[in-house]
Amino acid sequence: MIMRLRSPHHVRFQVTDLDKQEAFAIDFGLVVQERTSERLVMRTCGGDRCSYVAFLGDRDAFLGFALEVEDASDLDHAHTALGGTAPTPLDLPGGGMAVTLHDSDGNEVLLIHGAERGEPEELYAPLEINTPFEKRRFGRNQHGRDRGPARLWRLGHLGLFVRSFAASKPWYEEKLGLIASDIYHIPGQPQAQIVGFFRMNKGEEWVDHHCVALMQDERGGCHHISFEVQDFEAQQRTHRYLGSKAYEPIWGVGRHPHGSHVFDVWRSPDGARFETFSDTDLFREQDGTRIHDISQVVMDEWSDDKPDRYFA
Ligand SMILES: [Fe+2]
Repeated sequence: MIMRLRSPHHVRFQVTDLDKQEAFAIDFGLVVQERTSERLVMRTCGGDRCSYVAFLGDRDAFLGFALEVEDASDLDHAHTALGGTAPTPLDLPGGGMAVTLHDSDGNEVLLIHGAERGEPEELYAPLEINTPFEKRRFGRNQHGRDRGPARLWRLGHLGLFVRSFAASKPWYEEKLGLIASDIYHIPGQPQAQIVGFFRMNKGEEWVDHHCVALMQDERGGCHHISFEVQDFEAQQRTHRYLGSKAYEPIWGVGRHPHGSHVFDVWRSPDGARFETFSDTDLFREQDGTRIHDISQVVMDEWSDDKPDRYFA
């Protein structure tokens, strides 16, 4: 049985300073759903009740992430066949039932069903782009948006540092049914795979190029979490706004070659990396896997910036 995944649900971190983390997350574009002395729960504008959770702790650390599944029977399967916990009520806004697995690095991977959603908020009017061949905007300016926090639509994907790609890849493929979209190997050694971008298997349905990226790195933990925004215009405006607040820019605004999405990455107070993305590629089950020599991959189509800072 292939796990029927619906979408990424939330990410889970432990932080030492909830106040600082909350202030950054608000400036980034998340909305406070719940705040206590023990935890911070934030959502996007797209209708979720919970997409980022930080628990107060004695050190900053990635705890894990959650994916929503299509049916309660998927939770039963995760419990009986995959070694997950018994389904239990999820103690977060929106509720639902959850089964917890642990991946090959020990990260929590929660599967959730039955969570409630709210109504999505209206975002901005679409950009009207004038090209040499087609004019769509007449007698008015393109303007009309604020420079400020992003209007985040949903949690789209996360990138994980994994201690062994050879161990993590089969875990995510076999337990969650993910499909590799693009894989990078060490220069000249096709058998030595070290990076992979994995998508959900929804058969004929188009899904994002990846919901999970795995990057071999002995540090383990989370490399970045990524939220979808409306378009690159929103990203540029939020980039300028976060810069005015003196947060640390990490990489972007740029465009990745695989997935094609426009990205912009910022450091949060706990040392994690928060990313906005827009305009990502879609694939189906039948659209296969591409293998690349990492020395041939340009990580940002729009700049020659070395990605060193991205991984520091
Ligand atoms: Fe990303």
